[in-house]
Amino acid sequence: MEDTKLDLRAKEILRTNDRGGYTVPTAGLYPYQWNWDSAFVALGFAAFDIDRAWTEVESLLASQWPDGMVPHIIFQRIDDSYFPGPDQWGTTTSPPTSGITQPPVAATIVRRLHDLEPAKGRRRAEAALVALDRWHEWFATARDPAGRGLVAIIHPWESGRDNLPDWDRPLSFVDTSKVGAYQRRDTQHVAADQRPHQHEYDRYLALVAFGRDNRWDPAAIAAGSPFWVADVGVNAILLRAERDLAALAGALGDSGIADRATRRAERLEDGLASLWSDAAGGYVSLDLRREEHATTLSAGAFLPFYAGGVPADRAERLIPTLRHWLDAVRYGVPSFDPTDPQFDPIRYWRGPIWAVVNWMIAEGLANAGHADLADRIRTDTRALIRRSGFYESFSPVDGRGCGGKDFSWTAAIWLAMTAPAPVAAVA
Ligand code: DGY
Repeated sequence: MEDTKLDLRAKEILRTNDRGGYTVPTAGLYPYQWNWDSAFVALGFAAFDIDRAWTEVESLLASQWPDGMVPHIIFQRIDDSYFPGPDQWGTTTSPPTSGITQPPVAATIVRRLHDLEPAKGRRRAEAALVALDRWHEWFATARDPAGRGLVAIIHPWESGRDNLPDWDRPLSFVDTSKVGAYQRRDTQHVAADQRPHQHEYDRYLALVAFGRDNRWDPAAIAAGSPFWVADVGVNAILLRAERDLAALAGALGDSGIADRATRRAERLEDGLASLWSDAAGGYVSLDLRREEHATTLSAGAFLPFYAGGVPADRAERLIPTLRHWLDAVRYGVPSFDPTDPQFDPIRYWRGPIWAVVNWMIAEGLANAGHADLADRIRTDTRALIRRSGFYESFSPVDGRGCGGKDFSWTAAIWLAMTAPAPVAAVA
């Protein structure tokens, strides 16, 4: 298909997946509103309908919990094609939501929306600013109670990178003996070899039960969650989001939020630096219960570029590694080290390429002065969509589409990669 037709198709996918003020990632497999999906969807809408882009963000932030958390799923309209649904989460909000969060890309996207039309977007940006500050403050307190500059995730779903090999060892300590029989729905929509294994699902559900049994109380979860891990992806994304929040607050004249976001960002900078592993040769996740770094690199190793401020000596190790990865496969960026035996080119987050991760890595590399690599990643992303369509993810080996079809965030990234980029570079 020609690019102009793909532009139209991308817009059509966003319109078709629009359920009236919020957008589902894809029909069937994901029939609700997902947190970071919505943020990227707003980025896509911004290329042709800025008003609708704001509405997407606003519908997400409308479900913010009283304590500041913005949930990972909002069960806007009950749909049995997805499991686990509201009953398993046991939350008490209306509409019901899950009890966990997801990578906080929203502040970065809100800053972009504001910068596209500062005068017109001012009122909406001011309202979003307050909600985003409360969410980030929740991360700093609920998920970093010790103040070490690293926020923890309590479930692999919070990383958005569900079955990354990094979680295998921390998950091995999760007790599944009380998980009863259940019916997965995901494998009714997508081939099982492209989805997480059953033993991982059992652990996902045990962690949902743990949170539900503790009424999603942050203190109880921080004290006892069997999964308490600093994901390099979430920490890098949050650091970038704090910097964008500080810049947006500055532009809007809110010095209180600007100062708070800057202070939180400074703390996160130290935390992110501590995720560097010489043994692994890059930034990796850290199991905070056992103080164990992951031993293999994922695409998350390159997200500190998106956060900004990667020291030169570390960049000098990461850039050749990225080039080596790109030489090892046909398309980049694989979600997991393609030279590692655990790499699987079609199984969800154990190898496939994700357009949203490519967008973040490319943004980061461009800001860090690696325009050639950023271009290569954007070119690969668009080539994959031209070859296979708007799939959820893609095999780095042969480019085939994996997971759900007509995927909102893939359509959004297609549009964002051609739209003008108003976001100022981060330091
Ligand atoms: C799923 O159900 O696969 C989702 O990734 C959870 O967020």
